[in-house]
Amino acid sequence: MKKRNTNFFFLLLVITLSLLPSLSLSDEVASEIPPAISSRGTLTHAEVSYLRRRQLLYYKDAAGDRGENITIPPGFVFENSRLRDAYIALQAWKQAIISDPFNVTGNWTGPDVCTYEGVFCAPAPDNKTIRTVAGVDLNHADIAGYLPEELGLLRDLAIFHINSNRFCGMVPRTFKIWKRLYELDLSNNRFAGPFPNVTLQMPKLKFLDLRFNEFEGTVPKELFDKDLDAIFINHNRFRFELPDNFGNSPVSVIVLANNNFHGCVPASLGNMTNLEEIIMMNNGFRSCLPPEIGRLRNATVFDVSFNQLMGPLPDTIGGMEELSAESACAEGGWAMPGGFVEAGEV
Ligand SMILES: *[C@@H]1O[C@H](CO)[C@@H](O)[C@H](O)[C@H]1NC(C)=O
Ligand SMILES: *[C@@H]1O[C@H](CO)[C@@H](O)[C@H](O)[C@H]1NC(C)=O
Ligand SMILES: *[C@@H]1O[C@H](CO)[C@@H](O)[C@H](O)[C@H]1NC(C)=O
Ligand SMILES: *[C@@H]1O[C@H](CO)[C@@H](O)[C@H](O)[C@H]1NC(C)=O
Ligand SMILES: *[C@@H]1O[C@H](CO)[C@@H](O)[C@H](O)[C@H]1NC(C)=O
Ligand SMILES: *[C@@H]1O[C@H](CO)[C@@H](O)[C@H](O)[C@H]1NC(C)=O
Ligand SMILES: *[C@@H]1O[C@H](CO)[C@@H](O)[C@H](O)[C@H]1NC(C)=O
Repeated sequence: MKKRNTNFFFLLLVITLSLLPSLSLSDEVASEIPPAISSRGTLTHAEVSYLRRRQLLYYKDAAGDRGENITIPPGFVFENSRLRDAYIALQAWKQAIISDPFNVTGNWTGPDVCTYEGVFCAPAPDNKTIRTVAGVDLNHADIAGYLPEELGLLRDLAIFHINSNRFCGMVPRTFKIWKRLYELDLSNNRFAGPFPNVTLQMPKLKFLDLRFNEFEGTVPKELFDKDLDAIFINHNRFRFELPDNFGNSPVSVIVLANNNFHGCVPASLGNMTNLEEIIMMNNGFRSCLPPEIGRLRNATVFDVSFNQLMGPLPDTIGGMEELSAESACAEGGWAMPGGFVEAGEV
């Protein structure tokens, strides 16, 4: 059935439902049916659960909830209430997965969440006598789906690694509950929308990796006041001028490459005394580099290639004693197209 007019379609469907004892539905149809119709009772159990899964993808209320509904089967016994919450979180996630080609979540069944593949438990930091979920590592699982709000229930997480999957949508606001999170790796997925501000509300976060996604808009300047050790936001669609507080960041590594950053490189860069690697290549930076970069004595990688920087390379760059990597400019005053520059040569 290819009819696209939905009003006509629902009318037809209601009539059909009232006439036929059972009904087989095409994909196209299934995604269009509102819950009120699917609960009329003429669909088989399999059809209902199929519809539910389809609806999850399209239905979203004002709070971003897509209607996952986890009930705990009678008879399930949990070691403690945190593992019970983890069960709800992980089952909601499983409902939000539409493709799992390596069957990684295949054994996410039963009450013992600590045996689920990719889920790691440890004694709770605030109560060593109980176990809690401390890590999730689904790197390279090629899973397609999204992150449900229920994941916030994994409140003791220290590590959340889901790089190289096909997760889409936005980062749930409930992640602000993750007060112990130390490493967040969402890289190489299909996340979109604005910078996930929720990461600014994670007091313990040290390692933030958002690279290779479709995030867009500005990057909040608060990011650079945060006590992070590594920031990877390269290969997104951020469009942004580096703020003056950029140099407040205590990071040792920051990669901004392949976005739409523009404006000047702020003088405060010289204050980033922990900096070992900074890669800003392939953005729209203009202006010359500030002489303050000479104070980055421990920097080993300083890459500003493929921008629109003008003017001479500051003499002070000789102060970057450890420098061994690229510091080049695609066009403008510098004649170092893409090559490596040893600090001693400058
Ligand atoms: C959740 O599912 C249970 C049983 O499957 C059902 O009784 C309950 O009404 C559902 N709740 C919501 C909000 O859909
Ligand atoms: C996925 O794994 C589960 C448990 O390991 C197994 O029961 C199931 O048959 C597997 N499914 C597929 C499609 O391989
Ligand atoms: C699930 O798979 C993981 C990894 O293969 C394994 O360590 C774990 O014991 C399995 N859990 C169950 C309940 O089968
Ligand atoms: C630790 O957890 C156990 C088991 O839930 C509980 O009895 C105990 O009171 C908790 N201790 C603290 C310090 O919260
Ligand atoms: C994120 O935070 C920044 C700075 O506080 C703010 O300007 C921006 O509107 C916020 N974005 C969202 C989507 O809340
Ligand atoms: C560098 O840090 C010092 C001390 O915190 C501060 O006074 C100065 O303004 C900073 N420089 C820049 C260019 O932001
Ligand atoms: C460079 O690194 C060394 C050793 O890690 C450290 O002692 C020193 O303070 C650093 N220098 C600067 C300018 O941060």
